[in-house]
Amino acid sequence: MTDLEALPLFGEFCRAASEIYRRGWAERNGGNLSMLLEDGFGGLKPLRSFPIASGAGALEGKCLLITGGGKYLKNVERDPEDALALLRLGKNCAELLWGLKNGGRPSSELSAHLQSHAARLEADPKHRTVLHAHATHLVALTSVHELDDRALTKTLWSMCTECLLFFPDGVGVLPWMPCGTDEIGAATAEKMRSCRLVLWASHGAFAAGTGPDDALGLLEVADKAAELYIMTSGFPSPARIGEEQLRRLADAMGLSPREGWL
Ligand code: 13P
Ligand code: ZN
Repeated sequence: MTDLEALPLFGEFCRAASEIYRRGWAERNGGNLSMLLEDGFGGLKPLRSFPIASGAGALEGKCLLITGGGKYLKNVERDPEDALALLRLGKNCAELLWGLKNGGRPSSELSAHLQSHAARLEADPKHRTVLHAHATHLVALTSVHELDDRALTKTLWSMCTECLLFFPDGVGVLPWMPCGTDEIGAATAEKMRSCRLVLWASHGAFAAGTGPDDALGLLEVADKAAELYIMTSGFPSPARIGEEQLRRLADAMGLSPREGWL
C-alpha cells in the first residue's frame, strides 16, 4: 500500500465516488472528484506530464488527487490506481506521480477543478475538495427554474430547514455552456468565490468542501431540496418556509445568510 492509499482521506475519496454513482449521479463516466493534498510524495518519480491551460497559480507546488477522464466513478473503489491520478501541480503543467496505470488523462474538467480550488482556498483555508456530479434533481431544477442565483437559492432554502444551515452563502448558477473548457472553469470559479455550490444548467453541479464527505453532503442537501420542489410543484404551497421564517432560523442558529438575499 502506498503512502497515498494509507491516508484516511483517500478511503473517504474512493467511497464518495461510489456513493455518487450509487445515487445515479454518475452515469457512464459522468462526474469527477478532486482533493488537494500537501506534497508529501517526494519519493514518487514523475511518470508523465500534462499541460495546465489555466495555470496552477496559487496551487503551484501542491498535489491533487483527481479522477481520470472517461473513467467510471463506480470503478474507483475497485481499482483506484486505474481510475485516479495523483498530480503535482507546476506552473503550467501537472506531473503524474501515481495512477492512470492503464493510460489516460486527468478529468476533462481539470481546469474547472483547479480554478475552483484556487477560488475556494482564498475564501476558506480549510477547503480541500471539489466534486462534480450529474445530480438528477438539481439538473431538472435548472430546466424549470429561472437561472438567477438569488431566486434559485431562495427556492432551495424554502424547501427544507437544513438548506439555510448548510449553504447560507447560497448557490450560484451558470447558463448552459459547453463543458470541459477553461471558460466554464473560470465562470464556475468566479461563482465559487462567494459560495460552495455551483449549478451548470442542464448538466450538473460543482460542490466544494473541506473533504469528500463535506462536499458530497452539501450536494445531498441541495439535491433533496430540488427533489422536494419538483415533487410539490403544481400543488398549492401555502406552508412553504417563507422569508420571515428564514430570518428567524438564521437568528436562532447565528447564521449570516448571503448579504441582501433575505
Ligand atoms: P470526465 O470523464 O472527463 O471526468 O468527464 C465527465 C463529466 O462529467 C464531464 O462534465
Ligand atoms: Zn459532467
